[in-house]
Amino acid sequence: MAQGDLTQQIQELKKERNAVILAHSYQRPELQDVADFVGDSLALARYAQQANCETIAFCGVRFMAETACILNPTRKVVLPDLEASCSLELSCPASELSAFLEKNSEKNYYVIAYINCSIGVKALSDVIVTSGNARRIVETAPPDRPILFVPDANLGAWVAQKTGRKMELWDGACHVHRQFTRDSILNARTTHPGAPVVCHPECREEIRALSDHVCSTEQMIGFCRESEASTFIIVTESGILHRLRKLVPDKEFIGVGTEGCSCAECEYMKLNTLEKLRDCLRDLSPVVSLPEELRRRAEKPLLRMLELSQ
Ligand code: 13P
Ligand code: SF4
Repeated sequence: MAQGDLTQQIQELKKERNAVILAHSYQRPELQDVADFVGDSLALARYAQQANCETIAFCGVRFMAETACILNPTRKVVLPDLEASCSLELSCPASELSAFLEKNSEKNYYVIAYINCSIGVKALSDVIVTSGNARRIVETAPPDRPILFVPDANLGAWVAQKTGRKMELWDGACHVHRQFTRDSILNARTTHPGAPVVCHPECREEIRALSDHVCSTEQMIGFCRESEASTFIIVTESGILHRLRKLVPDKEFIGVGTEGCSCAECEYMKLNTLEKLRDCLRDLSPVVSLPEELRRRAEKPLLRMLELSQ
């Protein structure tokens, strides 16, 4: 079916279902274009919490749709593809974190979890952070308790460096961001001399050290808009390039490939398609459903995050 017809069907179903369509900046361009709101994990969580429609169609990965459901449990949250996982989520099973905390109970860890984790891990945490607010929230951690940061060791190391707070780091990583290489950055710098390199904090230390600015996807937009430069080398998942080109049309954005993929795509993010979005609005399935007791426990650290990042 032609893209225009699919988009038309989605718009009609959206009205019928009294739905809102949310999309993360790494989603396929056509999904970003059909969405009512596009943003990073933090902006999407805030938007979902306030949404007063009947249905939230979430174009993103599963932990993002779960977050929407945790924060706004009376809405129906549908996700075009329930298989849309995240390598960070997979690197920290709740059962392993629980066993670790039990084994080290005398340490009384203050657990800070990056939002890229399962509901089970959120439920075991004291506070949640996103890449957009991690520095600010880590600074508020109680000074008399050791911090355990899960699951992203790269983001954790960057925040520890920036805040001066000592943290124990879970050994997790994003399989896309960990694969950016020095050579690909240096080549891009040679081809585009003077262009600032902007990278996501999920990148490894040596990549962050080569970058001019490290920030969340949403903050990239503000940085590129306000900078005097006209060309930027963008080191993150390639979906953000569509958003940058749309929102900052007078500037040029150069994507960088990874060891594994010349287009730096997250296959989990790319599982969602227009067809699947149409189907999930039509069928109201797959729907995200969470056990209420676990939802309540996971809600607490999320609410703390939202309060601390106002
Ligand atoms: P943001 O919080 O910047 O949206 O990043 C989410 C993510 O999955 C990065 O890989
Ligand atoms: Fe997870 Fe990495 Fe994909 Fe982001 S890009 S959703 S961290 S696997």
